[in-house]
Amino acid sequence: MEEITLDPQRMPKHIAIIMDGNGRWAKQRGLDRVFGHREGANAVRRIVRACGELQIPYLTLYAFSTENWNRPKYEVEALMALLIKSIQEEVPELMKNNVRLNAIGHLADLPQQCQDALTEAIRTTSANTGLTLTISLSYSGRSELKYCMREIAKKAKKNEIDIDGISEETICQHLYTSALPDPDIMIRTGGEQRVSNFLLWQIAYAELFFTPVMWPDFDKPHLLEILSQYQNRERRYGKTSEQIAASTKI
Ligand code: IPE
Ligand code: IPE
Ligand code: MG
Repeated sequence: MEEITLDPQRMPKHIAIIMDGNGRWAKQRGLDRVFGHREGANAVRRIVRACGELQIPYLTLYAFSTENWNRPKYEVEALMALLIKSIQEEVPELMKNNVRLNAIGHLADLPQQCQDALTEAIRTTSANTGLTLTISLSYSGRSELKYCMREIAKKAKKNEIDIDGISEETICQHLYTSALPDPDIMIRTGGEQRVSNFLLWQIAYAELFFTPVMWPDFDKPHLLEILSQYQNRERRYGKTSEQIAASTKI
């Protein structure tokens, strides 16, 4: 494989990943879907480590959507058990790599044991200063926007917010992601080209990457290839190419 050199000045601050393809990865091997999820947990460990090494400040992973509750009970239960086990087992590795854990989504939907493991891991890693790893659990973008609107409406009713003063910033401040910058990159593994309700507000100007690689096979070289492509894209934010060239001229 060709050596990839990245420009340290043009690294993304925030990478979001839709980790898809676990079930198909297992099926291709004649295994139960749950094996794919188990292998997917290993891919998470690899990519978290890689992002730490690359000094990426924020990584946000889509682990379980609001819609995923509709899967067969057996699979949901296996996923929750795997989640509890992974959160507990990964804390020493997160500490070693200076990773701060964070979670977004309607976390109250999760089994109590899972909520407890999360709270404990978030507390233990809270003083770490490296990568902020956010896992999205029982998350969907529309549901997040619904809760955000309810919060703003409640404050408006109590006159804590002036309705005419509601800005894009007000909305950002009431999302689960209020402490995170918007993703620069959104990656979806597994070959599907859709966003499946992930970070709908936040990906307004993210660069999108779709790879056919199934999540359990996703590794650092795939990430480096995406980062290299990202650095070759021009983020114009509505402007012309000439305007961008003029503003980046020293
Ligand atoms: C992603 O892999 C993991 C979750 C949604 C929890 P899938 O389980 O969706 O795998 P495919 O898409 O069926 O291959
Ligand atoms: C998206 O994957 C959710 C996660 C990766 C957690 P899905 O496999 O659930 O997405 P759809 O339903 O195929 O769009
Ligand atoms: Mg899928």
